Amino acid sequence: MRVKKREKKLVILSILCIFLIPTALPALTSEGYGLPDKDLPPPMDVDMILETSICRRMSIREFTNEPVSDEMLSTILWAAFGLRNDDTYTVSEINGTHAAVIYVLNEEAAYTYDPKKHALIVYKEGDHRADINILQYEAPIQIGLCWDTSKAEANQGGTELGQIGQNIQFMANALDLGTVVTGQIPPAIKPLGLPSNQEGLIIMPLGHPKNPYDFKEKPMWISSLPKIKDSSMSLSKALENREDGDVFQGELSQQEISQLLWSSYGYSLYIDASEQEPIHLRRHRTVPSAHGYYPLVIYVVTEEGVYRYYPNILTDFLVNFLHIINAPVDYFGLPIITFMKQTLQQDMRNSISQLCDQPNIASAPLFIIPVLDLEMAKELSSESAKRFWYYEAGAVAHNVLLEATVWDLSAKIISPVDSTTIRSLLQLPDSNIPTLILPIGE
Ligand SMILES: Cc1cc2nc3c(=O)[nH]c(=O)nc-3n(C[C@H](O)[C@H](O)[C@H](O)COP(=O)(O)O)c2cc1C
Repeated sequence: MRVKKREKKLVILSILCIFLIPTALPALTSEGYGLPDKDLPPPMDVDMILETSICRRMSIREFTNEPVSDEMLSTILWAAFGLRNDDTYTVSEINGTHAAVIYVLNEEAAYTYDPKKHALIVYKEGDHRADINILQYEAPIQIGLCWDTSKAEANQGGTELGQIGQNIQFMANALDLGTVVTGQIPPAIKPLGLPSNQEGLIIMPLGHPKNPYDFKEKPMWISSLPKIKDSSMSLSKALENREDGDVFQGELSQQEISQLLWSSYGYSLYIDASEQEPIHLRRHRTVPSAHGYYPLVIYVVTEEGVYRYYPNILTDFLVNFLHIINAPVDYFGLPIITFMKQTLQQDMRNSISQLCDQPNIASAPLFIIPVLDLEMAKELSSESAKRFWYYEAGAVAHNVLLEATVWDLSAKIISPVDSTTIRSLLQLPDSNIPTLILPIGE
């Protein structure tokens, strides 16, 4: 009789186990043992020509609820800061190091992106997107760009993140997704709780644009510089092939100089006719800029002397002389009237290379130098805001390196050791800071 009772108990227990274990397991996985890290599928090969993706760069702030597929996210993160076939990254080191840390937030968790594993590593479970989205640009994914403060100071961190943000914007657009660079002080990612050696700079919402892209190809190019041509290299190939050059020599053609300068800070050959903004028909630039201030002035140094690049005299005229607005002026898709104006007739390349402690760059036929004009940065000219302008300079530099790649040229990003002396060499006012030196050659 006793045996029978025990058997009965065993049967009841087994039945309970059969029904309860499967329901208990998921609870244990997601709450007890945590969400698993997420391997990403291989990135897609995107065949959009580099110049087309540069022309299509623009900010998107409104998104649908449609999710971003794992394949698209994989492609964007690889472009951002992925590992390439030769085990180097899709962006250049700044001062010999990479300091970037990328956070990816979706409805399940906040992850960090591990480029070596091409995987998302769980940082915190749960939906933390609203905590860091102080601008309320709601999107299926929020990407946080941070840097490791033990590896780089703020301006170097900004320079590296500028390259990464540029890749995210190019690739998102090429996949018909959208994003916008946003930056706050204190960093919007702070509520997520970063490790003590990390600092946040940028948040980029990512999703499908609410209003589709609508570009009209209208170059309207009026210039002594040759009109921009398409290369034959795709965005993916340019990211895979970009190199930090060591040897710079030869001569550059006017076409090559025009391509490089345009990529640095020029205007798109397309007019944006989408309904992203209240006033349509806008011509965007090749890089974004906080508040649309565009406070960098691009200088060019060659054997013949120093030149200032004017991306479009019409917009400069509107900003500087009419004082109309504080925001981007090119709401009407103005024609591009672009040129270079000589400011000095002296070969400065050797002196600059000495000041950078890099004598090998003196033979480069061209240096491009993005100079920050603090007066044009208006209220964002404090020491703590400078990192945003270094972000912009990093975006400029990255465009130049990609454009050099597709035209089979060699280029490199150098953080000048002594920017004050470079400023005096170029005879610039005290409010100007040479941010980076970009030697370019064959
Ligand atoms: C460092 C940086 C910070 C920015 N911060 C914001 C921001 O906080 N909010 C926003 O809506 N746009 C922000 N932007 C985007 C600019 O407003 C935008 O690039 C500029 O208006 C030009 O428009 P476009 O990118 O569509 O050509 C930022 C851009 C940069 C480079």
